[in-house]
Amino acid sequence: MNRVLIAPSILAANFAFLGAQVREAQAAGADWIHVDVMDGHFVPAITIGAPVVRDLRAVTDLPLDVHLMIEPVDPHLEAFAAAGADSITVQVEAAPDPARTLRTIRRLGVRPGLTLRPGTPEAAVRPYLELADVVLVMTVEPGRGGQPFMAEMLPRVASLARRLEALGGGRVLQVDGGIDAATIGPAVAAGATSVVAGSAVFGASDGVAAAIARLRAAAGT
Ligand code: DX5
Ligand code: ZN
Repeated sequence: MNRVLIAPSILAANFAFLGAQVREAQAAGADWIHVDVMDGHFVPAITIGAPVVRDLRAVTDLPLDVHLMIEPVDPHLEAFAAAGADSITVQVEAAPDPARTLRTIRRLGVRPGLTLRPGTPEAAVRPYLELADVVLVMTVEPGRGGQPFMAEMLPRVASLARRLEALGGGRVLQVDGGIDAATIGPAVAAGATSVVAGSAVFGASDGVAAAIARLRAAAGT
């Protein structure tokens, strides 16, 4: 089994010290930095936009993994690409034509990703798997950090893992929401190759380095 890609979500970081927190995560062995963009419309909360991605680009060389929980999404792709995103994952519910959106992201030189709310049928993403480099299974309702992991999404992870395997060619199957030392193992066992973790990393009382080491050990990869 390949080493799981750990993507700390800055949603749980202290935004007053964001650069330092991201550097700390990089030094601790994080693989990607996950950036949660929320618009107060697709989800109730508002977080951050492309200027923060641009400024993070200057403090880390880790891939910036941008998760857009915004609707409409298409008018904003170019700005996040220009800001330095390495992957852009869109919610299938916010893309009227997911194939067009994924192709646009690729044309912008960014890895396209596709995700779905827990309540959206898996069938909604199936036609587009071939166009996505990252397929993300939300294991909480998008909108905020610190929610409990929805174990009922594990069969979805396993099902999508089989479909991606059949397609061949190194796509990333990511899970996002409620990942900690107890839930990372089952997620990886079900087929996840990347995990997003917010509170378990930036909210850990013993610090970011200990938290990432704990996740890595619990993942068994
Ligand atoms: C939720 C976000 C997640 C969130 C995860 O809408 O997409 O990336 O930061 O936070 P935790 O790891 O605390 O569940
Ligand atoms: Zn996310």
